[in-house]
Amino acid sequence: MVYKQLEQRGMPQPPVTVSTLRAMKSAGEPIACLTAYDASFAFLVDEAGADLVLVGDSLGMVVQGHDTTVPVTVADIIYHSRSVARGLRRAFLVADMPFMSYTTPVQALDNAVRLMQEGGGMMVKLEGGAGQVRIVEHLAKHDIPVCAHIGLKPQSVHKVGGFRVQGRDGAQARQMLDDARALENAGADIVLLECVPSEVGKAVRDSVAVPVIGIGAGPHVDGQILVLYDALGVTQGRVPRFVRNFMEGAGSLADGCASYVRAVKDRSYPSPQHCFS
Ligand code: KIV
Repeated sequence: MVYKQLEQRGMPQPPVTVSTLRAMKSAGEPIACLTAYDASFAFLVDEAGADLVLVGDSLGMVVQGHDTTVPVTVADIIYHSRSVARGLRRAFLVADMPFMSYTTPVQALDNAVRLMQEGGGMMVKLEGGAGQVRIVEHLAKHDIPVCAHIGLKPQSVHKVGGFRVQGRDGAQARQMLDDARALENAGADIVLLECVPSEVGKAVRDSVAVPVIGIGAGPHVDGQILVLYDALGVTQGRVPRFVRNFMEGAGSLADGCASYVRAVKDRSYPSPQHCFS
């Protein structure tokens, strides 16, 4: 019998692991990430060279048609993650923990285990700052890889009162740096930073050793992520300032995905028009 992991080590492009992502940060190689929700798009995104694929609870908005991510359930993420896992060869698969699925350490661990065992996730992502330290510690203690999502937290939209740029005032920005450090110390393997001024993105990147993946967080972070349908110009209506339509000038969906990965790798995306100050 040959273990799949061992067999894949001989591939020209071996599968991405947490160590690959850390090495990319150390080497200054930008990490290209996209969301995906099904096997066909997962295949395209993987072929295009994305390093990390997130099954985000953004699926509540772009797949299910809700106004927010709040209605998404653990069962929804498992269903989509399992489909995405079948389409991937190389990219690292992260599964999102939905709203209220990690309110206690025990509940978080139960749901994270389901996302990994049933959904095929290699890491789970949860939203929250220092308030989630106990949860992250508990998951890390059980060797569950964790991505901690700070900055704009879409699951808190009703508490915050909208999707807004975060960290514009000094106190909020300092709190974000403290949160990133606290989450890293608790065992988080990646920090995802959404919708903050570029200078805050840079400060967070410099304050932790783990990779910092940005969405609307400027050009200085270790990697970029976009919601796939935003990047491919599928999303209807107003899109956030940080979105670029990579289908412009692309002849196919595969080209659009490849164009995104290239632009992240050569740092032509994000450009100043996609950034906040
Ligand atoms: O759910 C999601 O797709 C996300 C991205 C916006 C990063 O969290």
